[in-house]
Amino acid sequence: MSTGTDKPWGGRFSAGQDQLFERLNASIPFDHVLAPFDIEGSCAHVRMLGSIGVLTEEERDTILAGLAAVAGEVERGSFVWTLQDEDVHMAVERRLTELVGPVGGKVHTGRSRNDQVALDLQLYLRDAVAGHKALVHKLMEALLLQAESHKDTIFPGYTHLQRAQPVVVAHHLLAYLFALQRDWERFDAWRDTSWMPLGAGALAGANYSLDRDMVAGELGFAVTAPNAMDAVAARDTAFAYLSIAANCALTLSRMAEELVLWSTQEFGLATLPESWTSGSSIMPQKRNPDAAELIRGKAAGFLARLQGMGVLLKGLPLAYNKDLQEDKLYVFGTKDELDLCLMAMTAMVGGLSFDMVRGREAAEGGYAAATDVADYLVGKGLPFRDAHRVAGRLVAMLAKDARPLADATLDELRSLSPLFSDDVYPVLDIERVVAGKISPGGTAPSRVLEQLALARATVERLGR
Ligand code: ARG
Repeated sequence: MSTGTDKPWGGRFSAGQDQLFERLNASIPFDHVLAPFDIEGSCAHVRMLGSIGVLTEEERDTILAGLAAVAGEVERGSFVWTLQDEDVHMAVERRLTELVGPVGGKVHTGRSRNDQVALDLQLYLRDAVAGHKALVHKLMEALLLQAESHKDTIFPGYTHLQRAQPVVVAHHLLAYLFALQRDWERFDAWRDTSWMPLGAGALAGANYSLDRDMVAGELGFAVTAPNAMDAVAARDTAFAYLSIAANCALTLSRMAEELVLWSTQEFGLATLPESWTSGSSIMPQKRNPDAAELIRGKAAGFLARLQGMGVLLKGLPLAYNKDLQEDKLYVFGTKDELDLCLMAMTAMVGGLSFDMVRGREAAEGGYAAATDVADYLVGKGLPFRDAHRVAGRLVAMLAKDARPLADATLDELRSLSPLFSDDVYPVLDIERVVAGKISPGGTAPSRVLEQLALARATVERLGR
């Protein structure tokens, strides 16, 4: 068992650390994923210490070589993680010192773990955001491909989960594509509030005239945190990240729910690839959409982690408090889960097959042309409110015997309004109903083509 005096900070201790406390205190089990970022930050710090003359060139080069060796061990998986190191920062420094000798201890000159962990987190988040953007883009591409091959496929559009008006499949899929574009844009804008915290020390700055802008420049930050206390205490960028990710998870969750619905026998509008469904242990006929259900369900975790981070920060006094060690659990969980959900959704969308016959039947059923009947009467001079009532009574009359709109005789129609004549029948044709939605953003073929062109241009732009 280690004794307190063995710890890097053990100078003022004589008693050993309670083992339970060691477990409570250690972030190694989760923060080891920060190692590549921790090393990247340390390299920039060491180069800067060299340039301001705090380290000799030889010291600098020895430490840099040592850090490169540690990075290699981490990458190969041969690095030995132990709870006794407490956290990733001390683990890396411990190994560095083992490799290069006592000069390794100079890496921590003018630095505290408080600004170090703040930097690691910024680097981690930036990397996570870049990964999410690429995966959101891939999903948008998959949606675009499906939309392009279903620009004429008629599909029921719903409100209140009741058949409302017919649309084309492309129209429905593009709704998600543009929602995902907003998720992408929010991830893209995340970087604007990120800054370089290193050089803040514990909270007050360091006893060296550090060249913090040099470190920022080397690590690709546009801004150096202007205030040392803010630099170590702030976690708003992590909260913002979790919020953007939760928003994206909500988009995925709604999409997932539709995959579940579409693939039921009741809806029967689309089939998921077999490789993305599972069987039941008791009912041999089942093919369950577990993956879609899990993506739908996982939105709960994204919201919980966002809330967890908010509660962690609420009322927390400046500057660093150990509570902040817990921030990583939320961030790491969200990063891994979002990548997984995005990749799974992309595969499912790519392999989705639409039942075109059933889609058309469903779109034709449910009196989807009733609005068009009302608009027909408006064309004959009736105010929309009255026209709506007439069309409603027509539906009520036919629904009693489950007859479709096109089944109504001219006499029946005339009994409801003298404005009806033969020219109403073409209005009920589903293709015409769809083609009639000519307002910008509508589901008429010309408007869908416009949206497809915009979507294609957007996907190309975001992929650059
Ligand atoms: N493992 C710590 C964390 O994640 C690093 C910072 C520790 N700072 C300290 N003063 N004990 O927050």
